[in-house]
Amino acid sequence: MAAPAPLLADEDPSFAELLALRPQLTMHAHDGLTLEDVPLARVAREAGTPSWVYSAATLRRRYHALRGALADAQLPAEVHFAVKANPNLAVLRTLAKEGAGADIVSEGELRLALAAGIAPSHVVFSGVGKSLAELRFALSRGVGQINAESAEEVAMISAVATALNVTARVALRVNPDVDPRTHAKITTGKSENKFGVPILDAPALYARMVATPGIAAVGVATHIGSQITSGMSAYSAAYRALAELVRELRAQSLPVEVVDCGGGLGIPYRDEPAPSPAALAGAIKAALGNSGAKLMVEPGRWIAGPAGVLLASVILQKRTGMRRFVILDAAMNDLVRPAMYEAWHGIIPVSPGDYAAPVSPCDVVGPVCETGDTFARNRGLPPLEPGSLVAFLDAGAYGAAMSSTYNARPLAAEVLVDGDRLAVVRARQTQEALLAGQSVPDWLT
Ligand code: LLP
Repeated sequence: MAAPAPLLADEDPSFAELLALRPQLTMHAHDGLTLEDVPLARVAREAGTPSWVYSAATLRRRYHALRGALADAQLPAEVHFAVKANPNLAVLRTLAKEGAGADIVSEGELRLALAAGIAPSHVVFSGVGKSLAELRFALSRGVGQINAESAEEVAMISAVATALNVTARVALRVNPDVDPRTHAKITTGKSENKFGVPILDAPALYARMVATPGIAAVGVATHIGSQITSGMSAYSAAYRALAELVRELRAQSLPVEVVDCGGGLGIPYRDEPAPSPAALAGAIKAALGNSGAKLMVEPGRWIAGPAGVLLASVILQKRTGMRRFVILDAAMNDLVRPAMYEAWHGIIPVSPGDYAAPVSPCDVVGPVCETGDTFARNRGLPPLEPGSLVAFLDAGAYGAAMSSTYNARPLAAEVLVDGDRLAVVRARQTQEALLAGQSVPDWLT
């Protein structure tokens, strides 16, 4: 007996519901799905697929929405964009021109931020394992702040700074042991996570930092996790713990100039209720508004996620028994989030005809030789002919940034649109570039 036909995942929002919440994307009767004023079909013609497509206006709008929320709450806060979310140079340049600083975690990200025109003084160096070479590079470039995550790292920073004869501005990242109720792989502020120093150890270490050569102890930092959509309670608990720590340090006459409140603000990928920047600003203000410290936030996803789509073409549709598979030219090597975090991304047909056609359940997959190369199961999509285009929504953060060349697949192109302008801002990797750097030792020739 045949297996029963798969049912649509009935909670999924419709295409129209997805677009209604994303003003940067509109469906036009003639041009089809359009990002800002650029039809995605035009992007496919000019840049090919798969391609990442970013909306400059959305980056600007979201950056200013976040700044505005902090300003409305009268918080003296700086916004450092978490480069890891989207390290594309044109994206960074777009944000730099609006005044954004950068939160970086490697020499490579620092080089990108500087190349984008972000002043070194406007860069915070985060991360649990910065190498001596990276610290040397960062301090020789005058990086504005290093967030240290252990006593061992404080010693490394001191050694490098004294050798270079500079003073490193160092904040201490503390682990407040709160549960932000997000995916386990992106939870960072629980005691079992590798990040930060236990908050109970912080006062003694901070006092030692103040007395350490080459180091100016400037404050404290935390970052409790990413894609936080469960309300403000974990944030509030973390910020109250930070405020308490600041009071304790000052009571010991230790200077605290800066409090870095981290990133993590979630976005609605499907229909999750996601907190607003105003809610985040409120949580910061309630705990730290009277601290007198300069405040910092380091959002990545909230700014860049909704600003990007991944544009892909259908290679073919195949049917096996009762299942329909839509096989795309994008794969898990491009967008790994569904395979890695069971993430849900909206998938919308680009042509007006496909958009309007009746949907039925299908599995949307890539060509990579792993069952995990599945973007969606039982997703409602119309019949899609080879060459039909689809757009993955909210792919502007942790999309291209996490892609690989698995299965010897070249990295996809990246495109920036601004109004009706379009520019390829990262060329598709060539087959030659994919092989570059490899060699066969002479004993094998
Ligand atoms: N600051 C620090 C120290 C971080 O580790 C992160 C992200 C951020 C800021 C920015 O967090 P956001 O505002 O973007 O949530 N690849 C995962 C997300 C990993 C986040 C890692 N750290 C994903 O695709 O969901």
